[in-house]
Amino acid sequence: MQPVAARQSETEPTAQPIIRVRGLVKRYGAVTAVDGVDLAVNPGEVFGILGPNGAGKTTTIEMIEGLRPPDGGSIEVAGVDVVHHPERIKHRIGVQLQKTALFEELTVRELLGLFATLYLTDASRSRIDGLLDRVSLTEKATARVSTLSGGQLQRLSLAIALVNDPDIVFLDEPTTGLDPAARRNLWDIIGSLKAEKRTVVLTTHYMEEAEALCDRVAIMDYGRVLACDAPRRLIAQLGPAATIWATLDGPALDEAALRSLPGVTSAQFVDGEVELQTEDPETALTALLQRVRQAGGQVERLTVTSATLEDVFLHYTGRRLRE
Ligand SMILES: Nc1ncnc2c1ncn2[C@@H]1O[C@H](COP(=O)(O)OP(=O)(O)OP(=O)(O)O)[C@@H](O)[C@H]1O
Ligand SMILES: [Mg+2]
Repeated sequence: MQPVAARQSETEPTAQPIIRVRGLVKRYGAVTAVDGVDLAVNPGEVFGILGPNGAGKTTTIEMIEGLRPPDGGSIEVAGVDVVHHPERIKHRIGVQLQKTALFEELTVRELLGLFATLYLTDASRSRIDGLLDRVSLTEKATARVSTLSGGQLQRLSLAIALVNDPDIVFLDEPTTGLDPAARRNLWDIIGSLKAEKRTVVLTTHYMEEAEALCDRVAIMDYGRVLACDAPRRLIAQLGPAATIWATLDGPALDEAALRSLPGVTSAQFVDGEVELQTEDPETALTALLQRVRQAGGQVERLTVTSATLEDVFLHYTGRRLRE
């Protein structure tokens, strides 16, 4: 399979959205989990909802799927008013829930066959085995669900989401808790869904996942969408921002001295290493090298990284997603 990390085709912004959400609100007692969300998803795109724990991603996606009734707002999916007729989109959508209680004593093949039957779709052996092949679970066909690893369970729940051959697929944190190889495997499967012109809506709190997979991402925090665009456009909006990492040898410079360097917007020591934020990497780098040399020291190790979605998140929320 082709690696999908480099793919970054953007869908036409003029396309008629297949999902249109306006003013979506959901409250749980005093908590407003979703606080006036507007979203438009274009057909055939991979659309990401990116945000920290408790941001409202699952609540949002499950309202769009017709699984939770909203307290306010409108949801249209493939021309269907989901708020009033959630049953009318069931045959068009595939859903991978964040938490799934699977029938543990069934075998993988039995479980998938059961879901196919529930959906009144083709439950033939060849169809089921085709789905298992697609998610690389062929050799687990006769294993009990209870014996699967985390990554295998995620792939099984993805196969279940595809059982009715949906043209819109919702994946709620499809790679959380997986090791890097298992994550790449799921990325490839998601890439293949896009190649088949399916629309994919996924939630994640992994920045690099959103950057690698998504045509567009909505950055969500405290129930609101703070920004929504193609990852590279969100990053470009920050300007030529960069982070400079340096290990200094010789007389120590303090944070205040580093912060006062031209081009530097913030400076701190992290595990003995200097971390500088800058909007003007060239100026900041030159100034840092000069200042260190003046002090009689030298720069031992130097890394410059350009802005990422992580910086976009920091820009909009004032904090890092990793915290
Ligand atoms: N069924 C519920 N009853 C009460 N509160 C809820 C319920 N579901 C969600 N919440 C609250 O709504 C807020 C948003 O939760 P939600 O599960 O949508 O976040 P999330 O972005 O999916 O987080 P995570 O990354 O942890 O999955 C949280 O404060 C959560 O505690
Ligand atoms: Mg969630």
